[in-house]
Amino acid sequence: MADAGWSAESRYLVTGGAGFIGSNFVKRVLSDYPAARVVVLDKLTYAGNPDNLLGLESDSRYSFIQGDVCDARAVDAAMEGCDVCVNFAAETHVDRSLGDPSSFVLTDVYGTHVLLEAARKVSLRKFVQISTDEVYGEILGAPATEDAPLVPTNPYSASKAGGDRLAFSYYASFKVPVVVTRCSNNYGPNQYPEKLFPLFITNALEGKKLPVYGSGRNTRDWIHVDDHCSALLALIAKDGVEGGVFNIGAGNELSVLEIAERILKLLGQSADLLEHVKDRPSHDRRYALDSARIKRTVGWVPRVPFEDGIAATVRWYVENTWWWEKIKSGETYRDYYERMYESR
Ligand code: NAD
Ligand code: DAU
Repeated sequence: MADAGWSAESRYLVTGGAGFIGSNFVKRVLSDYPAARVVVLDKLTYAGNPDNLLGLESDSRYSFIQGDVCDARAVDAAMEGCDVCVNFAAETHVDRSLGDPSSFVLTDVYGTHVLLEAARKVSLRKFVQISTDEVYGEILGAPATEDAPLVPTNPYSASKAGGDRLAFSYYASFKVPVVVTRCSNNYGPNQYPEKLFPLFITNALEGKKLPVYGSGRNTRDWIHVDDHCSALLALIAKDGVEGGVFNIGAGNELSVLEIAERILKLLGQSADLLEHVKDRPSHDRRYALDSARIKRTVGWVPRVPFEDGIAATVRWYVENTWWWEKIKSGETYRDYYERMYESR
């Protein structure tokens, strides 16, 4: 990795650090930067999982605070003495946002506001707002650049667009050193098994059906979580990018059906497990990102070839059944699955 300068010796506040991407990021910071310190602030919702951070308790560079980003007192205390804040905390699942938008508006918009207000009172070097490619809405033509209009089509993406623009406004109005990132669909270890990759892999391992929404021809631009984390570290280390918006995509455009078929092949399972079910409302047909800006600005390129990434990810879920069986056997997950899929 390029010289990380001050960022290698910084104190990081990672909100949502017990979730999928946040926990991968926390582990990456601590392994790449021996002199860094990390404070995780996480509410531990259904998606936040202490098992994702297992083993770090004994690391004196790491501390964990259970708290809500909507709670100004908790946020002020957590941000004290930090140099960098990376805001991963969010309600993240599109399907859930269609059933209960309010928690999305609260955490993804108001929670971001609380963090930004706290950031005004301290002297951070970077505030990274983790946004998403979903803010552009459906992209049917050329991949979206950062200047494309924001046309979110579900309460999740609309709330993320609110947080994204609110963060930018705190740069423009108050010079909070905000960088906004819009990444595409991540896959990798420790992803909650409501999302496509872990749901399909673990269902296949259990001999259950793989519920494909509608035709399954919807495409996404898949990126391994390690590549996402590398992009974030490169942006944090770079001076002069404050106020910028950066797409992060790896250009692996594949449909849901193609992903499902590859997973089944890697597991030696039959395509009979595929089951077409009722489509998601307002299901965007395609997301596609133009990531030239981040490549040009910090020299980041994705390093995980898709074939390697999917094989390693399938292997991780095969080797870590304890991790996902614990989630899938719990009442919270079983209730969710029944509600979402039983009569679909
Ligand atoms: P996740 O659902 O796995 O984790 C979210 C984490 O945030 C959990 O640990 C949860 O406990 C925590 N959290 C939720 N509400 C909170 C609150 N009010 N206060 C404190 N903590 C709270 O999500 P993920 O997939 O790791 O996504 C992380 C971030 O990346 C999100 O902001 C998401 O919008 C964004 N993103 C995700 C993807 C993707 O493909 N997963 C792609 C682009 C952007
Ligand atoms: O694009 C980035 C976004 O990717 C992130 O901002 C979100 O936080 C993250 O959850 C993810 O959103 P998606 O809605 O794209 O993820 P999900 O895994 O739910 O769905 C991916 C695709 O798979 C989508 O086209 C819907 C389809 N799908 C999903 C599930 C869960 C199915 O066909 N069947 C399913 O059971």
